[in-house]
Amino acid sequence: MDSTPDDELADELLALAGQLRGQLRRHSALGAWAAPGRLTARPVVGPEDAAPEVIDGGDEAPGTHGRRTLSQIRAELGDCTRCKLHTTRRSIVFGVGAEDAPLMFVGEAPGEQEDRRGEPFVGPAGELLDKMIEAMGWSRQSVYIANTTKCRPPGNRNPQPDELEQCMPFLKAQIASVAPRIIVALGRPAANQLLGVDAPISALRGAFHDRHGVKVMPTFHPAYLLREPDKKREAWSDLKLVMAELERLGVQPTRG
Ligand code: URA
Repeated sequence: MDSTPDDELADELLALAGQLRGQLRRHSALGAWAAPGRLTARPVVGPEDAAPEVIDGGDEAPGTHGRRTLSQIRAELGDCTRCKLHTTRRSIVFGVGAEDAPLMFVGEAPGEQEDRRGEPFVGPAGELLDKMIEAMGWSRQSVYIANTTKCRPPGNRNPQPDELEQCMPFLKAQIASVAPRIIVALGRPAANQLLGVDAPISALRGAFHDRHGVKVMPTFHPAYLLREPDKKREAWSDLKLVMAELERLGVQPTRG
């Protein structure tokens, strides 16, 4: 049966109502990963090595109001020398993707190729991540991708606690700015940092974890999947849960 203009209008209104509901949820979810509201009281670009208090809401600081753009956060980061990783890095690897992506991926730290190119997940693990994202109906441009640290740890060692302590506030600010509906945490270090736990990925994956009102799905890191291809089936089942939840939330995949 052909739809009438009234039907079309009703559909449009329903879609708009769904979007508005989604936005309201996102705004309320923003609270805890958003910045405390000193934003307007300080210049956007502060002294480079000042503690990033504006954006460091801290896990327990719910708050508020100062949602900053990614370019403001990047400016605050500056030519960062807050931790020792600046002495060995080539590039700061800030993040890539859509500023308002409903879906975000967080890895551990840049590797050699990312350090060279200044972009996250561009090496072999990145190629697999791109395929995973595309299999979900999205693209590298329509999601947002970042890491728990923005500089490569030498020899690809794990980031150390002091490095994470300096860098995580910037990731939290990016999350608050992008306001994704769902974050996929890639591998144990990213999942543990985002969830504030110390647990193996196998104990965390396969279910959503609520963190400050944002749903986090931990899954295997693509570099691990390259070494253990048998685990791809479990990773795909995690990603299917993400796809189903996005659909339930009324978020359509886009290749942007
Ligand atoms: N592994 C990560 O965790 N992040 C990258 O950007 C690249 C490899």
